[in-house]
Amino acid sequence: MKKIGFAAALILFTVAILSTRYYMVDLPVYHFLGGGDVTDPATLHLQGEFVESNLGAAEGPSGSLTVRMIAQQFVFVPQCVEVPAGVPITFRMTSADVVHMLSFLGTDYGLKVVPGAVTEATFTFAKPGIFKIPCHEFCGAGHYAMRGQLNVVPRDQFASLLPSERRTCELR
Ligand code: CUA
Repeated sequence: MKKIGFAAALILFTVAILSTRYYMVDLPVYHFLGGGDVTDPATLHLQGEFVESNLGAAEGPSGSLTVRMIAQQFVFVPQCVEVPAGVPITFRMTSADVVHMLSFLGTDYGLKVVPGAVTEATFTFAKPGIFKIPCHEFCGAGHYAMRGQLNVVPRDQFASLLPSERRTCELR
């Protein structure tokens, strides 16, 4: 009986370690098994998919829409993105430092963003509106102030934006 108790404690301990060391344990295993796209948190802003000119909303050749964003202590880059209503939007996100978790307030949509990997998910926002994007994973001293924004605008309004205007919500 004692042996079973010990084994159970050992398993619990192992699970607890693994589940709190997500990007130190799970991610390397995930990468080793060939899963997903890999990013280097140290050079995110300098090369590859997440350089500044690639961030924000971008239209693919087939009219598909991709939003690229970086989560980092304690901001989202870009801080605000504009997207059209009623169109499936593929989010591709990564972290420059630690694990962040974002939700789109007023919806069931959420994303976990980890350093070293790209998180991808496709969401559709049926109607125009403003969605705050708070971070839900404690990520440090500025965690409670970490929030981005998604402005969902009518399709024709979005279509009239220049590519450079799709990386920001600033008034033009
Ligand atoms: Cu990022 Cu909390």
